[in-house]
Amino acid sequence: MDWVYIEDIAAHDGRDVEIRGWVYNKRSSGKVRFLLVRDGTGLLQATAFSADKDSPLFQQFDRLTQESSLVVRGRVREDGRAPGGFELSMTELEIVQIAQDYPITLKEHSTPFLMEHRHLWLRSSKQHAVLRVRAEVIKAVRDFFDGRGFRLMDTPILTPSACEGTTTLFETEYFDQKAYLSQSGQLYNEATAMAFGKVYCFGPTFRAEKSKTRRHLIEFWMVEPEVAFATLQDIIGLGEDLILFIMERVLTKRRHELETLERDPKPLEAIKTPFPRLTYDEAVPVLREKGSTIEWGGDFGAPEETIISELYTSPVCVTHFPAAIKAFYMQPAPENPDVVLGVDFLASEGYGEVIGGGQRIHDLALLEKRLEEHKLPREAYEWYLDLRKYGSVPHSGFGMGIERMVSWICGIKHIRETIPFPRLLYRIYP
Ligand code: 4AD
Ligand code: MG
Repeated sequence: MDWVYIEDIAAHDGRDVEIRGWVYNKRSSGKVRFLLVRDGTGLLQATAFSADKDSPLFQQFDRLTQESSLVVRGRVREDGRAPGGFELSMTELEIVQIAQDYPITLKEHSTPFLMEHRHLWLRSSKQHAVLRVRAEVIKAVRDFFDGRGFRLMDTPILTPSACEGTTTLFETEYFDQKAYLSQSGQLYNEATAMAFGKVYCFGPTFRAEKSKTRRHLIEFWMVEPEVAFATLQDIIGLGEDLILFIMERVLTKRRHELETLERDPKPLEAIKTPFPRLTYDEAVPVLREKGSTIEWGGDFGAPEETIISELYTSPVCVTHFPAAIKAFYMQPAPENPDVVLGVDFLASEGYGEVIGGGQRIHDLALLEKRLEEHKLPREAYEWYLDLRKYGSVPHSGFGMGIERMVSWICGIKHIRETIPFPRLLYRIYP
């Protein structure tokens, strides 16, 4: 008998198969026993019928508890009433292990309790759906860049220099030197872009964020494209295409998961390119009119991002931020050097910034000046300065946070559920 996965069950209609999984739920009704089995790919109802309540199959069934592991065999039948449209007429049930007092029952639990049991919580249908969407988003990201001729470059995790400011650095020992966990692969990608033209890196990044928000993780995954000769406008176009590509992929391949999450797909379906654009200068009076107390020069917080995103049905690209609130490497705007050629993509429905990026400084003297102004140690950046000495060109790129995208797509307000094991300000267990 073939071992099959539940997500492939439709191809086995009418055949005898074996399913290996865990008990999700069970119930009895007269001469019928219903078992809801999960195998990691889906849920399947397995039914057993007997006139004899002491039949061997029923005896096995009665021992089962939630999350006990088992192997069931039987014939696949199409049945419109069953979840997923198929059912297994069970003929054999083998117990692998009986689970004792599984802590997560089908009733409500508090979030701290669930976070403490994250290793088990992953089995619940909603968490399962979110992480299947995450896997699809990552696959879409790779297909998008690979399909456009971008080269994948793996940038280091241990680095001697800061990319996104020194306040959120994780420091560690590197034999007799100091090292930091990477906040972004960008600086290295500027080097690989000069070697390969268009590149992307995709990996974990680390920020010692002391603030406790719904949108910040300490460890998160970021995809970062970098393109030699590209301008701010080029990179905005790339970000728009990427977001649309991911949406279309998830809406076709992960509809079922969005249904499980009770996520209304309409706002995602409504997204169209080009996205609305707004300069920082244009955004500030709009924000003040809507009740924000922001002054020119201040950074956007979550309330500001929400106000702006609620004005449109597609994500909004905000550009030309004050240089003082952005990273040292941002290229000043030619018409006004107080603002930079940077862009933040603010997701719709108040989910906040999903992409941050822009055009990089390509002039050696200006970059040297910025390193000094930001009090960054020149020795650690000599190699980065080299890129401005040997065939320097304008270039641009951005970073997209995978977890921010997943929380937006799934309609989940807290980012902690979008990664299997979130690292948070007050949590590193499990
Ligand atoms: O805006 P950020 O800090 O930009 C950079 O790191 C650039 N060096 C990227 C580049 O140009 N190559 O971060 C980029 C994105 C944000 O828009 C957000 O989606 C995500 O990374 N992000 C976080 N996600 C979760 N938790 C955090 N603490 C995050 N910080 C940034
Ligand atoms: Mg940013």
